[in-house]
Amino acid sequence: MSETHAAWGREQHAVHFDALSHVPRFVLRRSYERFNEVRLLNAALDHAREPSLLLEVGCATGEFYRYLTLRHPRVTYVGCDISRPATERACQKYPEGRFILTDVDLKAVNHVDPDVIFCRDVAHHQPDPLAFIRKLYGMARSLLVMRIRTRDAGETVRDPTLSCQLNYGIWAPYIVVNSQELLKELAQFIPQPSLVRLVKHYMVLGGQQARYLPKECYFPETGTAESALLIEKGEGSAPCTIKEEAVPENLQLGFVARVVSWLARHSI
Ligand SMILES: C[S@@+](CC[C@H](N)C(=O)[O-])C[C@H]1O[C@@H](n2cnc3c(N)ncnc32)[C@H](O)[C@@H]1O
Repeated sequence: MSETHAAWGREQHAVHFDALSHVPRFVLRRSYERFNEVRLLNAALDHAREPSLLLEVGCATGEFYRYLTLRHPRVTYVGCDISRPATERACQKYPEGRFILTDVDLKAVNHVDPDVIFCRDVAHHQPDPLAFIRKLYGMARSLLVMRIRTRDAGETVRDPTLSCQLNYGIWAPYIVVNSQELLKELAQFIPQPSLVRLVKHYMVLGGQQARYLPKECYFPETGTAESALLIEKGEGSAPCTIKEEAVPENLQLGFVARVVSWLARHSI
């Protein structure tokens, strides 16, 4: 695995991202449905006329598979990830699921041909998030839903040595894209998208969770955000509608859910 992706090959990754595996279903639902990208995906899947094939890129230990099969039993799921320990853990927990170990360029899932791609918290860990988003858009038949990191002020700092996060003792890129740069780029995708929605949960990203980011990202006025992004594939004929909004997420789980999660984690 390349240096920029080496952190994900660590055994600790499979342990760290397995926190939801023992929580009961109502906590799992509550945990995911706090997030704007999951709400956008649910609304789209609820309105879909046909059952879809969904590819999750960066599935880690497969917890989203458990959520999706509960919430959308008609959707067919395929997950992929570059992390061997994480995909092995996913296969061990959910033998009925389909989890594919892939390379960073996703060649191992070229054959999948998904209607929908869901990709949460992966693009900002690529040295070039915009190239990665473009690649996913090319692979999805109709819809791409992601969570990325954005900033309203200041240019995207594309250098991973200046914009990174320490994961399991290894630096990984952590690239915060300028929201206007992003929207301009998305509107030029071919075929042109019919709809782009960017839904921002503003928060100061700098200094949290072992991140080493450009200094501006430590100030609220830079407008950094965890941002849900939905891109509907167009046919290239109609103009692209762009909707940009701020929707704060309530990240606090309720008291009962927190107690149940704690018990689930500590009783194993
Ligand atoms: C921060 S974790 C997010 C995991 C999960 N999507 C979530 O939201 O909990 C990032 C995951 O993306 C995977 N990843 C990183 N680069 C990737 C790539 N180019 N293709 C597929 N998976 C990738 C990592 O191995 C890791 O499991």
